[in-house]
Amino acid sequence: MSNSTAYIGKQTNRVEGRAKVTGAAKYAAEFNAEGLAYGFVISSAVTKGKIVQINAEAALSVEGVLQVFTHENRPNLAWFDFKYKDQIAPPGSPFRPLYNNEIKYNGQPIALVVAETFELARYAATLVHVIYEIEPHETNLKEKQEEARGPKAGFLNLLKPLPPKPRGAAGKAFDNAPVRVLTEHVHGVEHHNPLELFATTVMRDIDGKLTIYDKTQGVPNSQLYVTQVFGLSNDDVRVLSPFVGGGFGSGLRPQYQLFMAVMAAIELKRSVRVSLTRQQMFTFGHRPTTLQWVALGASEEGKLEAVLHEAVSETSHFEDYTETIVNWSGSAYRCDNVKLDYKLVPLDMYTPMDMRAPGAATGVPALESAMDELAYKLGMDPVHLRLKNYAEYDQNTNKPFSSKELRECYRQGAERFGWANRNPVPGSMKDGRWLVGWGMAAGVWDAQQMPARAEAVLSIDGKLTVSSATADIGTGTYTIMTQIAAETFGLPLEDVTFKLGDSALPLAPVQGGSYTAASVGSAVKSTCEKLAKKLFSLAQKPKNSFFASVKWEEVELVDGHIQLRNDTSQKISFIEILRQGKKNGLQHKSTTMPNLLKQRKYTRHTHSAIFVEVKVDPDFGTVVVSRVVSAIAGGRILNPKTARSQILGGVVWGISKALEEESVVDHRFGRIVNHNLGEYHVPVNADIYDIDVIFVDEHDEIINPLGVKGLGEIGIVGVPAAIANAIFHATGKRIHELPITLDKVM
Ligand code: MOS
Repeated sequence: MSNSTAYIGKQTNRVEGRAKVTGAAKYAAEFNAEGLAYGFVISSAVTKGKIVQINAEAALSVEGVLQVFTHENRPNLAWFDFKYKDQIAPPGSPFRPLYNNEIKYNGQPIALVVAETFELARYAATLVHVIYEIEPHETNLKEKQEEARGPKAGFLNLLKPLPPKPRGAAGKAFDNAPVRVLTEHVHGVEHHNPLELFATTVMRDIDGKLTIYDKTQGVPNSQLYVTQVFGLSNDDVRVLSPFVGGGFGSGLRPQYQLFMAVMAAIELKRSVRVSLTRQQMFTFGHRPTTLQWVALGASEEGKLEAVLHEAVSETSHFEDYTETIVNWSGSAYRCDNVKLDYKLVPLDMYTPMDMRAPGAATGVPALESAMDELAYKLGMDPVHLRLKNYAEYDQNTNKPFSSKELRECYRQGAERFGWANRNPVPGSMKDGRWLVGWGMAAGVWDAQQMPARAEAVLSIDGKLTVSSATADIGTGTYTIMTQIAAETFGLPLEDVTFKLGDSALPLAPVQGGSYTAASVGSAVKSTCEKLAKKLFSLAQKPKNSFFASVKWEEVELVDGHIQLRNDTSQKISFIEILRQGKKNGLQHKSTTMPNLLKQRKYTRHTHSAIFVEVKVDPDFGTVVVSRVVSAIAGGRILNPKTARSQILGGVVWGISKALEEESVVDHRFGRIVNHNLGEYHVPVNADIYDIDVIFVDEHDEIINPLGVKGLGEIGIVGVPAAIANAIFHATGKRIHELPITLDKVM
């Protein structure tokens, strides 16, 4: 399309960018109400046991303290025994704050102090005296791995399939393979740590209706939770989340501050805010500690004969959190003998939670590190080994890929990086006293679509408002939905407003799984198309209308007009159509379902090839990632600017995962000891050098009419392996325990 209102695929600034940088964008803890009270959560100091006594007398005697809620005086709620599940809940029973005197994990919320000011509430919390009866706890996965058992299957396994059955005879094929690699991988707990702290502001009006500003990746999920748990109707509870300061999965499930704030607001008949501290950001879901073993067998020529991949991960005692860690190893490469295994060990920890590319960011790097080791054993270039075993179809399911331009990722990524100039001998490349290493890896993630609703309203001034109860956790949803609506409806970008983050808007899935662009984008496109047809019918109504005998296929919507495609001088403005039809506006609301009949015949994935240069200090073992090229095959790119930002963020996080971050559990106490951003290391600007993002052309007619696959998670997936492989190339050391800190390099 060459018209002036074609926006899809064009670099577009964030439509909400100005609001964000000027502070006009407000977050959950920034909304104020008359007479707002403040809650401060008290966290358990022990990991397992019982609360024998909570003495709140001293706290309650402080002037301005309104109440101290504990398991002893919290209201009776039907849900507490009914075991309500949120949209994203895995099998089991969700954690229930203040349910009884049992302590299930360290940092568990055990009381809420509510006061006239935040400072008072925080101070009074220090006066609450708790006596515990301590029981022995188990938080060390390595010590408990013998007890690993299969995960419970649940509804979510549709999205997160458990491992497929073995094919061929992997064990035997491995034993007989002339070239073999066996690797063991470990990574610990990681926490999402979005910059915005978890917070909920509950505004209670005089009728008891609640308007809730919550930090969430899906307002419908928070609304569902509150209505079910507190026995309220949708009319009584409106949840808003217009801006989110990062999510990464942490906001997929309602967090306990939502429960606390709503409970206090209802009980005290006041508006209440509860915000967590940075330390308390380490007291809920996390990426689980995972132990992995990969065994690869190959012929002398580098043909894969056997792939075995086993993972043991932690879960809580109350829910079975699962993620897809090993399945990718059965679909990534062509191989006839594959055995994949995934087991869980319940620990005295909170239930793990999805964290950017859950499962793939854990499992794919293990496979990709083993592939690098195999390439060295074979004396083969790592890119060549991958091309030799390229999977033309998904052998886990025997289905073709809806599209897979991974070959092009390897080609363009290698060329941009200059991979051909690599001397494969470890330690052979130097820059002054630095050891230089070049490594690469592949990545893969899902391209899914969920049902979503949207509404489009054309007003008398010719402006369009489109809405859906989706989220923008920093991904660019506001912008790409505005682009899709503007192009579909033929309006300048400035004349289109997209609304999200409000449970009063049409239902959308949580923003997760990289499926928002495909799901909500499809709903926005389809709803705008239907509204356009309604507008065209209206234009045809008058007896003397030029368009009366014209067919829909013969017109287009461009720049606020409906016009003939082959004679663009024949046109009528939207405003004129409404005026003639004596309408104040026109609206359409509809649900868009994924085309399952078409989609189910294919495996739908995004792919990436990552090339990395590291520089290692031979005396100190410090590692600098000096260059990254990330080549992505992610379907149609709606907005190269926000798309690039997604991949940049993923690469930075991949660097973090490889080299810096870990929530360190002191197993003597079952407690995370580095629960702050001073000691939970993440990269700062000075840690980040060149990152080059390539989007290869990928046309996909299967996934959805937009051809969009989603980019939120693919960016991180291959990065930790590419870095570990580059460190091997620089130093000759294989390090499979993340993060690769300097003590491991030395
Ligand atoms: Mo993403 S971990 O599905 O928010």
